[in-house]
Amino acid sequence: MEYRIEKYDTVTSTNDLLKEKARAGAPAGTVVVAARQTAGRGRMGRSFLSEDGGLYMSVLLRPAGAAADALRITAHAAVAVALAMEKHTGKPAAIKWVNDIYQGGKKVCGILAEGQASAAGMDFVVLGIGLNLKAPEGGFPEALRDIAGALFAEESFDKDAVIRDILENLSYENAYAEYAKRDMLLGKTVTVYRGGEVVCTAKASGITEDFGLRIVTACGEEVLHTGEVTVRIQ
Ligand code: BTN
Repeated sequence: MEYRIEKYDTVTSTNDLLKEKARAGAPAGTVVVAARQTAGRGRMGRSFLSEDGGLYMSVLLRPAGAAADALRITAHAAVAVALAMEKHTGKPAAIKWVNDIYQGGKKVCGILAEGQASAAGMDFVVLGIGLNLKAPEGGFPEALRDIAGALFAEESFDKDAVIRDILENLSYENAYAEYAKRDMLLGKTVTVYRGGEVVCTAKASGITEDFGLRIVTACGEEVLHTGEVTVRIQ
């Protein structure tokens, strides 16, 4: 795919801006990058801290058929980011199903794929990636200090090269193997939440080839696919 990158200083949300562009007919491969967002969003309507120092980007995809699966797109993007992170930092990345990437025990990246469908099928998917390159000036807010991390301690990184590598890696062929290798939940006891309510406690036992999370509960084995589920390590 050929990418056309548009850069902005401040936007509400690169996903929202790109959705507007998609509805107005922007082609697949349009990429919006912003230096900061005033209304950055995460999964389940959560806000996503988007101050200077991060990479906030959205990629417009117009997939057809099975390729339009949001779970699959999210997982492929997680691999694309993990590989780029590892190349630029030399440190391993871990993927927490389904859309979070960790380094050194801290969350450094979140991914939010949002689609628009019509009777004819999927019109488009906007793939949003928020990656903490550097911590915000003055550090992360108190509430995030133990959870959030950043890739680089100093200014000596090449943001454009990180963007280029992520985009290039989106077409990585062997995403499943790379995802499974970095599965942070494997063997861990997790609590599964749906709509904020605890559903069960289970042991995570791997990732299926269609990027579902395999869990073992007291009642047997189950595979989680839905994007409406959150999993926390106990
Ligand atoms: C999450 O952690 O739940 C996902 C966070 C996704 C954040 C990115 S930043 C670029 C794009 N624009 C948004 O408003 N959200 C995504």
